[in-house]
Amino acid sequence: MKNLLDIYSRKKKDVAAIERELEESVYSNNAMLKETSLHLLKAGGKRIRPVFVLLAGEFGTYKLETMKHIAVPLELIHMATLVHDDVIDDADTRRGQLTVRSKWDNRIAMYTGDYIFAKALGVVTKIANPAVHQIMSKAIVEVCIGEMEQIRFFFHTEQTIRDYLLRIKRKTALLIAISCQLGAMAAEAPDSVSSKLYDFGYNVGMAFQIRDDLLDICGTEKQIGKPPGSDVKQGNITIPVLFALQEPQLKATILNELSRIEQLDGQTDVNHFLEIIRSSEGVTKAEALSQKYIDKAIHALDTLPEIRAKKDLIEIAHFIGNRTY
Ligand code: IPE
Ligand code: IPE
Ligand code: MG
Ligand code: MG
Repeated sequence: MKNLLDIYSRKKKDVAAIERELEESVYSNNAMLKETSLHLLKAGGKRIRPVFVLLAGEFGTYKLETMKHIAVPLELIHMATLVHDDVIDDADTRRGQLTVRSKWDNRIAMYTGDYIFAKALGVVTKIANPAVHQIMSKAIVEVCIGEMEQIRFFFHTEQTIRDYLLRIKRKTALLIAISCQLGAMAAEAPDSVSSKLYDFGYNVGMAFQIRDDLLDICGTEKQIGKPPGSDVKQGNITIPVLFALQEPQLKATILNELSRIEQLDGQTDVNHFLEIIRSSEGVTKAEALSQKYIDKAIHALDTLPEIRAKKDLIEIAHFIGNRTY
């Protein structure tokens, strides 16, 4: 399997241009806002949403100047949600660095997130098509609902797989779906093409979050840039756990562990809990589900023209299905 850098190499120049544009876009005369927003930007990240925008654009008339005005806001929106998400999750590290909330504080993080959102809006006004703005606005609303739902479901052991899937659709998959869709729209590709790319992005996005949730259980701190077990400490019950709860011989132990962790407000060692889940069928079942979404994503591209971008999208889908970072 190729890694992301290999897949990105064909778009290296354009990704570098987006990178410069991102930096310029968060520029502020206010030293504090500049510092806090650059902090997360410079910590890196996979930039997967901008790359999807660029590749989707190749299905239409690709002009970097136009693609930028979609790719930059999408990465900014993603970044803003991360700054806010780390407040919600009390997270101390992200992308291997201190989070804004931990380096400064929650108040600073809230405004940093708002500021980055506002900058995203500013950039996308360069695209005159109101449908683009509507699609972005709706997706951000869904992210908010997804994050609210996640809070509502903290430590709810009775939630269904469906509850989980709906939540990750909102908090993660839709933004990836619209990265693909809007990339195609900005390049004036036919609607039939942008809607197939949306389906691709949605399915890849579902797999992306399932892998993220698996990594929080099975990954190492070095791989994921934050300590494993962060989800359960917070009360976020993810799909490997929901599958493991279906195993009659494990259910009581898992419920016990979860109630202990909840009582201690997450301020406890969760290694035992992680061990149980790692050795359960929850992991293999979640991996299989993630693979199912990847297969569906690739299938969505079937009728699209055989251009180089299609091969790249398929490679990225395979990478995401197996990703370890
Ligand atoms: C992290 O997204 C949050 C999720 C939606 C799982 P990424 O894994 O894309 O984060 P970066 O941008 O690479 O840091
Ligand atoms: C992030 O979800 C979802 C959003 C982007 C709003 P997570 O909470 O699972 O992501 P990480 O694990 O903190 O990156
Ligand atoms: Mg989080
Ligand atoms: Mg979260």
